[in-house]
Amino acid sequence: MGQAMVRGLVIKSVYPQNITVFDVDAKKLNALKKETHIRLAKSNRQCVSLSDIVILAVKPQILREVIEEIASSLDPNCLVISIAAGMPIARIEQFFKKPVSVIRVMPNMPALVLAGMSAFSLGKHANQRHRKIAEAVLSAFGEMEQVPEKMLDLVTAVSGSGPAYFFLLAEKLIEAAYESGMKVDVAKRLVYQTAFGSGKVMLESREDPEVLIERVASKGGTTEAALKVYQKQGFGKSVHDAVKAAFKRSREISQGK
Ligand SMILES: NC(=O)c1ccc[n+]([C@@H]2O[C@H](COP(=O)([O-])OP(=O)(O)OC[C@H]3O[C@@H](n4cnc5c(N)ncnc54)[C@H](OP(=O)(O)O)[C@@H]3O)[C@@H](O)[C@H]2O)c1
Repeated sequence: MGQAMVRGLVIKSVYPQNITVFDVDAKKLNALKKETHIRLAKSNRQCVSLSDIVILAVKPQILREVIEEIASSLDPNCLVISIAAGMPIARIEQFFKKPVSVIRVMPNMPALVLAGMSAFSLGKHANQRHRKIAEAVLSAFGEMEQVPEKMLDLVTAVSGSGPAYFFLLAEKLIEAAYESGMKVDVAKRLVYQTAFGSGKVMLESREDPEVLIERVASKGGTTEAALKVYQKQGFGKSVHDAVKAAFKRSREISQGK
C-alpha cells in the first residue's frame, strides 16, 4: 500500500525528492528508489524528522511500536495519516502521548493501479487544512470520501473487502464458462474486460444498478433467464449476509478481538 501511494504521488507530479521513505526491508526500499527516485531515510525517526506529512503504512500490529519510535521526532505541526486497518484514531492519538493531527484512512486494493476508493475520518486535532492535504494525497491513487469514524468498519466491509467480492464473481464466471466448453484464457479475457466495461458504465452513467440491469436484460432473453436463477437461489441474501459478516469482523478487529 505504501508503495502504491508513493507511485501515485510521483505520477501526480509530486517532486520525488520531496518524498522520504523508510521500510525495514532494504531491498524493497532500494527497488522503489530505483523506480521512482524518491529519497530514502535510514530510520523511521529520520524519515519523520524530514517530513511535514507522515503516512503510516505498516501493519496494525506494529503501529504502536512505530509510533513510540517516531513520537519524539515528530514536529507538532505535522499531519499524520494512518492507513492501518481497524486502528481507531483515539488509540493512535494516545500512542503519541501528545496532541497530534491524525487522519485515519481506509483505502482499498485497487490503489495499486491508482483506482482505489478510500474513506477517511479526522482526528480531534485535525482541521480543514489537514482535510485538504489528505484529499490531495489520497487523490493520487483514486477517489475518496470523508465519513464519521464510526462508519469506517462498514466502509471496510463494503469497499475495503469489496474488490474480493468482484474477484469471486469473476472466478465463478470463468469456471462456469470453462465447464460449458470455453478455454480458460479466453473466458478470463471475456470476464475481465466485461468487469472493466461494467465498472466504467456504472461510473460514467451514475445510474442505479437496477436501471442498468434493465438495459441489459430484455424480456424473455438470456440475461433475464440468468437473473431468475440468481434470484431463486438467494444471490441477494448471500451478498447481504457476507457484508454483515465482514462488518461484524471489522468491528471485532477495531475492538482488538
Ligand atoms: N493491502 C490492502 O489491501 C490494505 C487495504 C486497506 C488498508 N491496508 C492497511 O495498510 C497497511 C499496510 O498494509 P500492506 O498490505 O501494504 O502491508 P505490507 O505489504 O506488509 O507493508 C508494510 C511494510 O512495512 C514494513 N515494516 C514492518 N515493520 C516496520 C517497521 N518497524 N518500520 C518500518 N516499516 C516496517 C514491512 O516490511 P516487512 O514486510 O519486512 O515486515 C512492509 O514492507 C496495513 O496497516 C493495512 O491494514 C491494507
